[in-house]
Amino acid sequence: MDPFSVMANSILAVFSVMQLGLIPIMAEGETTVFGAVGEQVILPCIDKSHSDGVTWKYNDLVVIQHQMHLSRGKTPLFSRSELNKQEMSKGNFSLILSQLEHSDAGKYICVVGSRTFKVQLQVFEVTGSPSGYLLQAENLMLSIQGSSSANVTWSNNYKDKVTATQSRELKNGGRSLQIHNLQAEDSGTWRCHITSLSAKLDIPYKVLVIGFHNLNQTLYKAVNSTVSFSYSLSTHLLQIRELEYVRGGLEWKQMINNTYVEKFNFNVTSKGLLLPEQMANMQVTWKPSNHLEVKLPRVQFKDAGWYQCQFTVSRGRVEKAIHLVVMTVTADPVGPLSKSANVTLLCKLSAPIPPNAQLFWEHVNGTEKKLNMLGHSEVEVKTKTVGLWRCSLKVENNMMTSIDYTVGRETTTTSSIQRPMLSLSVSLSMSVSPILSLLSPQ
Ligand SMILES: *[C@@H]1O[C@H](CO)[C@@H](O)[C@H](O)[C@H]1NC(C)=O
Ligand SMILES: *[C@@H]1O[C@H](CO)[C@@H](O)[C@H](O)[C@H]1NC(C)=O
Ligand SMILES: *[C@@H]1O[C@H](CO)[C@@H](O)[C@H](O)[C@H]1NC(C)=O
Ligand SMILES: *[C@@H]1O[C@H](CO)[C@@H](O)[C@H](O)[C@H]1NC(C)=O
Ligand SMILES: *[C@@H]1O[C@H](CO)[C@@H](O)[C@H](O)[C@H]1NC(C)=O
Ligand SMILES: *[C@@H]1O[C@H](CO)[C@@H](O)[C@H](O)[C@H]1NC(C)=O
Ligand SMILES: *[C@@H]1O[C@H](CO)[C@@H](O)[C@H](O)[C@H]1NC(C)=O
Ligand SMILES: *[C@@H]1O[C@H](CO)[C@@H](O)[C@H](O)[C@H]1NC(C)=O
Repeated sequence: MDPFSVMANSILAVFSVMQLGLIPIMAEGETTVFGAVGEQVILPCIDKSHSDGVTWKYNDLVVIQHQMHLSRGKTPLFSRSELNKQEMSKGNFSLILSQLEHSDAGKYICVVGSRTFKVQLQVFEVTGSPSGYLLQAENLMLSIQGSSSANVTWSNNYKDKVTATQSRELKNGGRSLQIHNLQAEDSGTWRCHITSLSAKLDIPYKVLVIGFHNLNQTLYKAVNSTVSFSYSLSTHLLQIRELEYVRGGLEWKQMINNTYVEKFNFNVTSKGLLLPEQMANMQVTWKPSNHLEVKLPRVQFKDAGWYQCQFTVSRGRVEKAIHLVVMTVTADPVGPLSKSANVTLLCKLSAPIPPNAQLFWEHVNGTEKKLNMLGHSEVEVKTKTVGLWRCSLKVENNMMTSIDYTVGRETTTTSSIQRPMLSLSVSLSMSVSPILSLLSPQ
């Protein structure tokens, strides 16, 4: 809704009262107008019975007047005040103020003929602390500046009204909003709504959070397959002028060892990503300037752990870790079985199994099946059954990864040729699962 229509209405109300002769000489109604720092505001003054001169005063000083010709007083509003000639000929003497400053607040008087109109201007500003761009996990305090008993509410970047929650704190009677633990998803335009009986104003505030999308991922991969770690930033780094430098790196924490070790580091420049010459077996692609992808071919059991990507900028650092869980299978004995012998197939995961997951061996197209014991991240099957066996990991009925193993048997007792029958093939039906969904079954 047009914030000025409220004031126009209140002026009309004054007119109708006057027409009824209830108020004698006094032609003044006081209108309240809200404006935002840096923006334009219109102070209404309408007298349809006149079309000639007007004088606008602020603190008894003439701001601008039009009597035959336009003139301005020496006030701080000198270059920021304007009248609309076309509107004046219709009896609309409204004052247009631009580039509002806090010090512009106060009482304005519009004199048209023998009548005066008072306008109370209140000037507001939303400030953020810290100002400028923000980093994931930081806290942001938004405050409204400008004295008023007006009612203040806030809405977020999805246009929803902000209410107090764990991560949103309303302070100072709602005049300040503290946003805790910022996430990439908090980026966007937040708004402050200021309302009183006769005026209202919305002030937008742009929040820009540098952070990663999809925190907390787990990747389940079969041994010998290729794993691809994807780190996507919420912001194109090179678009943020304030960033003096951007450095980063990939670090790795083993399952058994609680410290991160650097795999490689890089620098982000306008030309792209500067990588060290020695990259071991990692393949890095960089989609300027916010997406890093790292491929690790032929992943091994010992590669399991957390792969954390971090970006360091002048203000601090943001990071995201992807948990790589590797599945592997072994057979004992290896190779074709001698007559009536059995084989032990072992399938194991590099990390503790989530409570909503199942690890199992099954004889493909057969009936034999063996499930892991509750909480065990490995499953073992002893069998004499030849054919294709498959170990699978299901999380909430979603197949995460599987490995096939073919059990063979020596064909004849007379044959002296032992053909190796071990055939391992890795199924590539792997998927990414956010930890969140693992923990909250829907
Ligand atoms: C009066 O003029 C201003 C511009 O000078 C305009 O924004 C406003 O809508 C006008 N008011 C009316 C009631 O016409
Ligand atoms: C502020 O606005 C809210 C919601 O519209 C209302 O419940 C509350 O009474 C208002 N407070 C004041 C002081 O106007
Ligand atoms: C991500 O994991 C970290 C550490 O495990 C935890 O503190 C944080 O709350 C998790 N975040 C989400 C969104 O689940
Ligand atoms: C953890 O790994 C780092 C790097 O490989 C090594 O220096 C450190 O000694 C390890 N700590 C333990 C407890 O294994
Ligand atoms: C990145 O910059 C830092 C500091 O200038 C330097 O020490 C490091 O070697 C650079 N790394 C690469 C991969 O260029
Ligand atoms: C499987 O073989 C092992 C020795 O290789 C033997 O001890 C065990 O009893 C056998 N189990 C079955 C069910 O045949
Ligand atoms: C299992 O059955 C499907 C269809 O019935 C068949 O296509 C597939 O080849 C079978 N696999 C094995 C290992 O027998
Ligand atoms: C992985 O590859 C190695 C080397 O080719 C092979 O010996 C091993 O059996 C493979 N493991 C699986 C589970 O496929």
